[in-house]
Amino acid sequence: LLDAVSLRHGIELVYDEHPMGGAAIDATGEPLPASTLEACKRADAVLLAAIGSPQYDSLPREKRPETGLLGLRAGLGLFANLRPVKIIPALVDASSLKREVIEGVDLMVVRELTGGVYFGTPKGRVEADGHVRAFNTMAYSDFEIDRIAKVGFDLATQRGGRLCSVDKANVLDVSQLWRDRVEALHADYPAVELSHMYVDNAAMQLVRSPKQFDVLLTSNLFGDILSDEAAMLTGSIGMLPSASLGSSGPGLFEPIHGSAPDIARQDKANPMAMVLSAAMLLRVGLQQGAAAADLEAAVDRVLDAGYRTGDLMASGCTLLGCQAMGDQLLAEL
Ligand code: IPM
Ligand code: MG
Repeated sequence: LLDAVSLRHGIELVYDEHPMGGAAIDATGEPLPASTLEACKRADAVLLAAIGSPQYDSLPREKRPETGLLGLRAGLGLFANLRPVKIIPALVDASSLKREVIEGVDLMVVRELTGGVYFGTPKGRVEADGHVRAFNTMAYSDFEIDRIAKVGFDLATQRGGRLCSVDKANVLDVSQLWRDRVEALHADYPAVELSHMYVDNAAMQLVRSPKQFDVLLTSNLFGDILSDEAAMLTGSIGMLPSASLGSSGPGLFEPIHGSAPDIARQDKANPMAMVLSAAMLLRVGLQQGAAAADLEAAVDRVLDAGYRTGDLMASGCTLLGCQAMGDQLLAEL
């Protein structure tokens, strides 16, 4: 699909494939070989598939696929994770929520990606007084909050003008600093309507009335959780792409879904989040908006024509496997 769409727009894409996650563990014993990280740094953009499989869950943490992903994010300085959630009209009835709740939803989760409890120290596991105790540290510095908040304010400026910052400032010191810094930055963006919401309430509001949101600004952990929840508004997490960006260097584009090991090698997976991630790579990573729009339009047309993978299947539609869905998209393109 990338070849077809780029050729049409007169762009030549040169691919360089490197293992990460399970493939890299199998080949080298490391989830993120140094050669992979170096190749990513040299690229104009990075396209990443989903990672993880139960077979790696018993490895020591530093050898697991997820650690490779965190290393890639940190190694490329990708502090801003953008997760757009837009309802596709043809899929309104695939959602577990009522049509009137989700019709017209168009929001963006802006998740901080290289800090917070995912990376904080000290962390670990200790034994004392006959008990085992494990701990992580949820910490943010002022500059980390400021740079992600700017991304949120900028996106709100380009979109609907509303930014909702999510925290747990009623309990957590780290969240109070988050709220204070976001509030202070608001002075630079008077045109943006800023609100603050506790994360528990945000989780509820997302399913109660998601249309109230334009841009949701979150820390690493809160964004991880809320973006999965927001994804389900669209009916399937198999539809959503994401972009991870730093202040310079290549961006990384990946579907927000996991590797779905329960359906591995059955030709059932929905490839559309991956295809839409490739579209995001074209638009955001390579400034090829027209090519991106072509790919996105192909997805829309295939859905309008009633083709569905199993995760989206509805009566009256045509069920396709992953491979056949890819062929259909190519034919549409
Ligand atoms: C995500 C994933 C990752 C995360 C996992 C696979 C480490 O859930 O990108 O949302 O927690 O960030
Ligand atoms: Mg997640």
